Amino acid sequence: MLHIDLLTKTFGHHTAVDRATIRVDRPMMIGVIGRSGAGKSTLLRMLNRLEDSTSGAIRFEGRDVTRLAGADKRAWQADCAMIFQQFNLVPRMDVVSNVLHGTLNRRSTLASLFSLYPTADIHRAIDILDRLGIAEHAPKRAEALSGGQQQRVAIARALMQDPKIILADEPIASLDPMNAQVVMEALRRIHEEDGRMVIANLHTLDTARRYCDRVIGMRDGRIVFDGTPAQLTTGMAREIYGADARFSEEATSTEIEAIDRVTTRQMPITA
Ligand SMILES: Nc1ncnc2c1ncn2[C@@H]1O[C@H](COP(=O)(O)OP(=O)(O)OP(=O)(O)O)[C@@H](O)[C@H]1O
Ligand SMILES: [Mg+2]
Repeated sequence: MLHIDLLTKTFGHHTAVDRATIRVDRPMMIGVIGRSGAGKSTLLRMLNRLEDSTSGAIRFEGRDVTRLAGADKRAWQADCAMIFQQFNLVPRMDVVSNVLHGTLNRRSTLASLFSLYPTADIHRAIDILDRLGIAEHAPKRAEALSGGQQQRVAIARALMQDPKIILADEPIASLDPMNAQVVMEALRRIHEEDGRMVIANLHTLDTARRYCDRVIGMRDGRIVFDGTPAQLTTGMAREIYGADARFSEEATSTEIEAIDRVTTRQMPITA
């Protein structure tokens, strides 16, 4: 269903994503891992056309989405809803209106301008919030909710678009462990119950292992691992992160970067 072929993105002389090739033939929950700067966000942003690719193709159900423009591009962006680390809600707006924002790209400009939402949409928004366990917060301002609740509002807004794919860029990086678990379980349930594909950039390896069917490891823009959590050995994880023996599964990509920097400095230079 999703075939990514030799997808490349360069910024000036720097190649952020280097000939990435990924084939997904059924809806899966996929975790993308790799240290800071590996190209994870750029890959996701090209997928939903927030960023144009330099070369390569993205085919979804046979169509090359890198070539879509105008209304077709907007329809694709609705098909692959994006969730961000910082939730991207309108803080002072109430929760249910934030969720209804997920329908904006299929409503007329005039109706959007006056925030005129069909009753059916409002009911659907409440149902989705209920499913995510936060319906009681519907009338509150988004900023009054905890981080984990706000991220579930962002997921609800994504679901309003009835997407085929949910792309999540470090959805739990700003959350405490308890809220992180609630959000990952919500994404997993959406995948299992609705059969939607979920592709999430994750900053710890253990999260990818626990929730995903498939893990993609990126290093310096290239895909260096693509397999099941069981196939992802500690040795392979070290290869992805380029980390030394102190590497741990719970370490975040940023921590690994810091460990590596210190180690490199301490290492004697040998010819
Ligand atoms: N708009 C841009 N202009 C120039 N360089 C960019 C741009 N966006 C990303 N890059 C570069 O591309 C590379 C990949 O960045 P990207 O944000 O995709 O990494 P990442 O794996 O998501 O990292 P992180 O874990 O820190 O979020 C980095 O070297 C980054 O500096
Ligand atoms: Mg990123």
